[in-house]
Amino acid sequence: MKYDPKTMQNYSSAHEGFTEHYNATPPWDIGKPQAPYLTVIDQVKSPVLDAGCGTGSTALFFAARELEVTGIDFVECAIQRARIKAAEQSLSVNFLVKDAMTLNDWNERFASVIDSGLLHIYSKEDQRQDRTRYVQGLAHVLKPGGRLFLLSFTDEAPEGGVSEQELYEIFAKGWEIESVQQVIGEINQEFLAKHPGAYQEAGPKMWFAVIRRTD
Ligand SMILES: C[S@@+](CC[C@H](N)C(=O)[O-])C[C@H]1O[C@@H](n2cnc3c(N)ncnc32)[C@H](O)[C@@H]1O
Repeated sequence: MKYDPKTMQNYSSAHEGFTEHYNATPPWDIGKPQAPYLTVIDQVKSPVLDAGCGTGSTALFFAARELEVTGIDFVECAIQRARIKAAEQSLSVNFLVKDAMTLNDWNERFASVIDSGLLHIYSKEDQRQDRTRYVQGLAHVLKPGGRLFLLSFTDEAPEGGVSEQELYEIFAKGWEIESVQQVIGEINQEFLAKHPGAYQEAGPKMWFAVIRRTD
């Protein structure tokens, strides 16, 4: 079966599309953090929010380093799997079924936010309002001086994402982009075996950005 990286556009909502993806092996679910997160271990401070945490591998990685971590995802079965993994590893993470579009109504505050693959989902023109709402929510839950560690598809990825210029526009006011580099996202091996050629190169082109909330 040929995998179409644009399949997400065939669903009536992002929630429906992601729920369907979790019925099989999702391409992003690699059982560990994407490699760029290993380069910022010392910068990630408690309390940490993993927004769109999926089955929780990145949240658990930081919890294993004695950080206080909350992971949210709007797909219930992803959170169920994350909770099972936490129990198996005897790690404590506050995994919640929660829509990232509701961050503005939340009383929790964090020193660090991890976004490993969420923001770019809302990059198409008809989803820009959601993206704005999400970024406003990030500013609301992130303490001043806190950092967002963002991994996002570039606009060259087959799924579509954001250009570097767009990144600077999205985080223009109230934020400072401290660093941004282009990286290649790692794809689940089981997925690649089932869908050879789904990605032309080693994986999709992504930005890894460290972004500080300034006010
Ligand atoms: C590309 S996956 C990445 C998952 C995980 N961060 C990782 O690196 O393995 C994006 C995740 O964001 C979640 N997601 C998308 N939109 C969301 C929203 N509005 N609220 C909460 N989670 C969302 C999806 O269910 C999915 O688990």
